[in-house]
Amino acid sequence: MPETTRSSLKSERLARMLDEVRAGLSARQKELPPKYFYDARGSRLFEEITRLPEYYLTRAERALLRARIPNWIRELRPRALVELGAGSAAKTRIILDAMRAAGTAAVYVPIDVSAAFLRETANRLRHEYPEIETRPLVADMTDGLRLPAGLPGPTLYALLGSTIGNFDDPAAVRLLERIQAAMYPTDSFLLGVDLKKEVARIEAAYNDARGVTAEFNRNILRVLNRELGADFDLGAFEHRAFYEGEYDHIEMHLVSLCDQQVTIPGAGVFRFRQGETIRTEISGKYDPCRVAKLFEAAGLTMREWAPDAEGLLALVLGVAKGGGGGA
Ligand code: AVJ
Repeated sequence: MPETTRSSLKSERLARMLDEVRAGLSARQKELPPKYFYDARGSRLFEEITRLPEYYLTRAERALLRARIPNWIRELRPRALVELGAGSAAKTRIILDAMRAAGTAAVYVPIDVSAAFLRETANRLRHEYPEIETRPLVADMTDGLRLPAGLPGPTLYALLGSTIGNFDDPAAVRLLERIQAAMYPTDSFLLGVDLKKEVARIEAAYNDARGVTAEFNRNILRVLNRELGADFDLGAFEHRAFYEGEYDHIEMHLVSLCDQQVTIPGAGVFRFRQGETIRTEISGKYDPCRVAKLFEAAGLTMREWAPDAEGLLALVLGVAKGGGGGA
């Protein structure tokens, strides 16, 4: 990429970040978009979260993928895998291995907001799966998301890890619609969702004893300091996460420990009262009915609802309406 293109992309990204941060911190309930957690450090902290005893999501999903994927891949015979929010692609190997075993694997498109992390992941996978063409795509799922065209079909689209939970239902429908719009009748869509369950169990997953989630939460302020030259005092904000039963989601906040103000060059000066919070993330919890409604609204049909034995989380297999999902 020419240097000028690279730097104009960078300033575009920063201008957009500045707009989003200004708008979010100007709202009555101050808010920041959770995608800004994931610089290299944030991505590593999230990886650490996935290994915490309290954070059941990743382990449960991995076990469920191991149990279900080989059969599904034998039926669907996908030649391409498009993974939204790929992260470190730890779970991807389960799918790629099954595609390799079925002899159908051709192209893997990991999509993520974190460029550095994505590059690392792509390089590792190219090494591990030399026969699969890995075409990483740095993209923001919250933002028009242009999916690659001309992939060999059938294509399997995957949105795992309950990433969809970061979107409220209207935004989730918009995201699913974009995926649906890219899908051919023989393509399929694989969604991983965290399920509604005992509140204490959910809240523990976002309030781990070692404080890794708290570090992850505060990392968003570090990102703003570095990228925008903001002057957040990381020691002056505290992690808080709780279940909001009305919406069936976890909310993660940063609580201001004192009256303070923060300057963000180009965006303004933002005042925080003691106890005032910034909401940094929501993480939705689902049941079949909620997912069915999202699918219906987005023009997708649910083909399989596959929860694990403990009812912790579910994999959902869908097709575009009118589609057959291969086989
Ligand atoms: C990556 C969005 C699925 O919501 O559980 C983990 C992020 N936040 N701990 C989630 C997260 C706090 C995670 N997702």
